[in-house]
Amino acid sequence: MAALDRPWIGELFVRGRGETAYDRPADHWDNEFASGAFDRLSRSDQRHHLRLLAGMIAETFPNPKIMEIGCGDGAFHRAIASHGPERYLGVDLSSVAVERARERYGKRAGTEFVVGNGSNHQTDELFDAVVFPECIEFLGDPVEVLRHYAKNLKPGGLFGITQWLAAKPLRIWRAVKDTHEVVDEAVVNAAWGGAWQVWTCRPKNG
Ligand SMILES: C[S@@+](CC[C@H](N)C(=O)[O-])C[C@H]1O[C@@H](n2cnc3c(N)ncnc32)[C@H](O)[C@@H]1O
Repeated sequence: MAALDRPWIGELFVRGRGETAYDRPADHWDNEFASGAFDRLSRSDQRHHLRLLAGMIAETFPNPKIMEIGCGDGAFHRAIASHGPERYLGVDLSSVAVERARERYGKRAGTEFVVGNGSNHQTDELFDAVVFPECIEFLGDPVEVLRHYAKNLKPGGLFGITQWLAAKPLRIWRAVKDTHEVVDEAVVNAAWGGAWQVWTCRPKNG
């Protein structure tokens, strides 16, 4: 937590430990979902940050059009569904996760889950928000990733990001803050210790 205000503390922790877990293959994620290791992501006490992010977006855009990168098996979809999204597109590298998300939530009008690489997924659609819940650290250079998706935001549209609060994710937060206007940000404490960071932002020139 101290590293939120004091970047040098975070840098001490990450120095010499290599970079983030970028470029893990689809198999890795398929195994996480197939083995049940990610069942915890659906538990109520694991989803407070997702509910907050959904609320931040829906307050600005009721019934939003939204794209989620790294949608997993649909935990964020569950949170945004109560805000009646007009359109929801979920993208994930794991076909196991996408199949599960389709079974759970795929019948809802306007909802679609597709297998794709979130580092550079291509679509011409425009959205009120593009969100990255607990995913952006796996996609490569975060500023490049947001630059890639800026063309998919309607004028005034928002990016939404959540990440588990730790030293490496804080690097991402600082890099994004340099290039984006932060609209809302919060820290959500987990009952068992630790916390999630939740924020919305838009390109500074957007
Ligand atoms: C920690 S899980 C979070 C899942 C979901 N967003 C949630 O909050 O429950 C990380 C997710 O990112 C996905 N992922 C990792 N690398 C990816 C990539 N390059 N493109 C798309 N999805 C990716 C994984 O398959 C996994 O579903």
